Amino acid sequence: MKIILLGYMGSGKTTLGKALAKKKNLSFIDLDSYIEDKENTSVKEIFATKGEIYFRKKETFYLNELLLSEKDFVLALGGGTPCFGNNMDLISKATENTFYLKYNPKSLTERLSAEKEARPLISHLKNEDLEEFIRKHLFERNPYYLQANHIISMDNLSVEESLEKIDNLLSS
Ligand code: S3P
Repeated sequence: MKIILLGYMGSGKTTLGKALAKKKNLSFIDLDSYIEDKENTSVKEIFATKGEIYFRKKETFYLNELLLSEKDFVLALGGGTPCFGNNMDLISKATENTFYLKYNPKSLTERLSAEKEARPLISHLKNEDLEEFIRKHLFERNPYYLQANHIISMDNLSVEESLEKIDNLLSS
C-alpha cells in the first residue's frame, strides 16, 4: 500500500508520516530527505546554487521513481510537490490513499515563524510579512492540494487524533 501525505510547509507531514508508518507497519519516506540523500546535498543548498526550477525537476524525477516502484510506503511530499508539472495527476494515478493535511493560514504562520531557516521560499521573510505571504501562497496551491482523496482539517487535532482519523479512513 502507498500512502501519501501532502500539504503546505509546516503542516506536520513528516511527524505524522513517521507515526502513521509505524502504526501501519510500513516504511516511511520523506521526499525532501530522499532527494537530499540521492543528490548528496541539502534542499537549501540546491535552491541556493542551482535555483528552484532545477529543484523542481529533481523533485519530479524522484517522485516518479518512488511512485513507479513496487514499494509500499508512507510518503511525505514537500509542500510544493503537488503543485508543479503534472505531479498531482501522477500522484492520483498511483494511489487513492492521498491525504491533505489542511491548516488555516494563521496556524501555519504560528507553526512556521520559528522554522523558516531551512525553507528557502520563506527564509528571507520577516515574521510580520509571513501570514500575508502564506495566505496568497495557499490560495494558489489549494487547487492542487484539494485534489487529494481525503482532506484532514488539522487545526484542532492532536497528532494522535489525526493519526486515528487517517487510520479510520484507510480501513473504511
Ligand atoms: C517547499 C517545501 C519544502 C521543500 C522546499 C520547497 C515548498 O518541504 O520541499 O523547501 O515549495 O513548499 P516542506 O513542506 O517539508 O517544508
